[in-house]
Parts: sequence; C-alpha cells; structure tokens
Amino acid sequence: MLKMIKEEIISVGCFEFLYSLIGKDYSRENILQAINSVIYEYADCSSLKETEEQEGLNLRKARKIAQYNGVLKIIEELGEHRRILEIGSGNGRLVRKIAERFRNAQITGLEKDIGLVKKLRGSDIPPNVHFEEGDAFSFFPEKKPDLVISLHGCGNLTDRVLDIAINSKANVICVPCCYPKIKRKTKGQVELPRSNSLASFKETYKKVILRRAAKLDGAVDDIRETRPNVMRSLYRLLVDFDRALYLKEKGYEVTFVNVYGRYFKSGSEEKANSPLRRALVGKIKN
Ligand SMILES: C[S@@+](CC[C@H](N)C(=O)[O-])C[C@H]1O[C@@H](n2cnc3c(N)ncnc32)[C@H](O)[C@@H]1O
Repeated sequence: MLKMIKEEIISVGCFEFLYSLIGKDYSRENILQAINSVIYEYADCSSLKETEEQEGLNLRKARKIAQYNGVLKIIEELGEHRRILEIGSGNGRLVRKIAERFRNAQITGLEKDIGLVKKLRGSDIPPNVHFEEGDAFSFFPEKKPDLVISLHGCGNLTDRVLDIAINSKANVICVPCCYPKIKRKTKGQVELPRSNSLASFKETYKKVILRRAAKLDGAVDDIRETRPNVMRSLYRLLVDFDRALYLKEKGYEVTFVNVYGRYFKSGSEEKANSPLRRALVGKIKN
C-alpha cells in the first residue's frame, strides 16, 4: 500500500468529527491540529529544488514551481504510469515537467482555452507530449489514461476530473480550487454531495458547508493562520471529504496530501505559499 495512505481517515466518522468542530468554542490551534491530523504533509517539498530557478523569480512563479515539484513527487510515489492526462493544463508548464521527468510516459494536456492550446502546439514541445483542446465536461479520452491530474481545477472541474479518472480506472491527483464556483448541480452531471456515505448529510452539506466555504473564500487573508483562515480550511476540507468518500466508494485508496509546504524557501528567504495546496490523491485498488 502507498505509504502516504491513511486509509482509516476517509470515513464518515472522521467527517462527523470535523463537522462537530464547527460552532464550538475550540481554539484556533485545536482546530488547526484536527485539520492537520487528517492530511499527509510532504515536508521535503517546501523548497525549490532547482537552484538556478530561484533567481529572479517573482512570487507567483516561485510558488508555481514549488507546486509542480510537489505534484511530481506524488506521481513518483504512486508508481509507474504510461499515459498521464492533465486536465486544465493552462500554459502547459506542468505537462512539460511531467514529460521531462517521466520520459517513458505519454502526457496529454487537456485545455478548453483554444488560444493557449494553439500557442503550445506551435512551440517546441517534448516528443511525449500532446496538447488537446476541449471541455472536460464533454471529454471522453480515446485512449484511457492510467493517471489523471488536475492542479487548481476550478469549482466543479475537480468533480469532472474524478469521474474521468473513475471511468478510466486511473489513479488521480487533484488540487481543488475556486470553492465559490462549486455548483450543487451542474449540467445534469454532478449533484453534491456525491458520496452515498454522506446521503444523510445532504441538506447540511448544501446549506451549511458549501455555502460557508463559498462565503469565506476571498473574505479572509490568504497568508496567515488566523481563525477565519483556519475555519475556511475546515470548510474546504469538509467539501472535499465528500469527494474523497465518493472516490473510496468507487474502489480507491484515498488520502489528503499537502502538495507543498505552508512556506517555501526562495533563495535565503522564506515565503508563504498558496493555501490551496491540499490534493486529493486516489490510488485505484488492484
Ligand atoms: C487555474 S488554471 C490552472 C492551470 C494549471 N493547471 C496550473 O496549475 O498552472 C485552470 C485551467 O483550467 C482550464 N479549464 C477550466 N475549465 C475547464 C474545462 N471545463 N475543461 C478544460 N479546461 C478547463 C482553464 O482554462 C485554465 O487554464
């Protein structure tokens, strides 16, 4: 079994425990401790590995490199893959990095922005890379991937990514973002909560958890671990718990992993990374 998997964590009991923290007068530290206890932390992804890349980078780029390094580490830990699909591949940098690290794998970047795809196709891309223009919601891979990735897939895109992985019987790594964009029901495809395990929490999930997760987004400081920030993390985790339970019901070993550290070093300076750093990692059971 994957060493990062804490299988027992993904359970209704754990969800109930986390949910019970809401509205109680627990300290910020206690809530943070509870959140951290269900997430696997990659201690060694905090710093940028490639020394030359540290120089002259703006914060956004430096953060991104720390994120890519973290994703590469998780891919490595999941095992060998032959066909990797990144959904919402944007400027294609992560696709390139994956292709350079895993030369025996074929990597596809799916992106709905045709302008980005055209630009990438016209550029010098590694031979094991292919960029495809398309909307994930109407995308069915011709050749089934054995790993599906999405880094900062907005709103329900993460839910679509999970379904593409499930239908392909592929491992999955996704770092969700844009919680306010999550719709309870989209294009007749996704209805939240998705897991049968949380069926009895349906109203709470829609009326409390999704609503609060959306409301807290943007309303709080991104960097410091203030109480509102910690509560935001808690609500986000509760949203993703449903996705984790759904994956588990579909035959996956599932874990939450922080893809990169809370802080990272850029040169000699320590800088805060984006709080959107928690991945849902699913490994299909054989
Ligand atoms: C926040 S960006 C992340 C880009 C990249 N993964 C990264 O981390 O640098 C999200 C990307 O997903 C793309 N996207 C959004 N919805 C999509 C969909 N339904 N199908 C395919 N791509 C989509 C957007 O155009 C955008 O490039």
